[in-house]
Amino acid sequence: MKGTVTTIDMNPERVKIARKNLAEAGLEQSVKVIEGSALDVLPTLKDEYDMIFLDSDKDVYPDAFKMSVPLLRKGGLFVADNALWGGDVAKGGKSKDTQAMIKFNRMVTEARGMSTVIVPLRDGVLVSLKE
Ligand SMILES: C[S@@+](CC[C@H](N)C(=O)[O-])C[C@H]1O[C@@H](n2cnc3c(N)ncnc32)[C@H](O)[C@@H]1O
Repeated sequence: MKGTVTTIDMNPERVKIARKNLAEAGLEQSVKVIEGSALDVLPTLKDEYDMIFLDSDKDVYPDAFKMSVPLLRKGGLFVADNALWGGDVAKGGKSKDTQAMIKFNRMVTEARGMSTVIVPLRDGVLVSLKE
């Protein structure tokens, strides 16, 4: 079975580099690169996804999670990097990013129909299964 990947990035330079590298690797048919803010693009997606990986600016994590859940198939995985945010989440740090990650972790772990763990690997990887 042949899989496809959809990526979203709002940085035009990074989008350009990604498209160039994918073309050189012969993967432009398998990987669709969308330029834009995740919060603008996610509500426009029509496909159902096996896995959604989030590694954007931290302040959008809570809203991006809410928008991602309906796009996941049952049994699909939502995965997010930086769940421990350098240890600041456990320390209850007050920065905007730390507060966003605390809100996000709480939101995902309490979400009905989602079964979630935070793997203490490097900066913390949150893995959430849609039941
Ligand atoms: C930490 S980097 C991701 C690195 C990538 N996961 C990797 O391992 O190579 C964050 C990326 O997310 C993009 N980004 C940040 N906030 C975003 C948003 N709200 N919507 C779309 N892209 C965003 C940035 O432009 C940047 O390219």
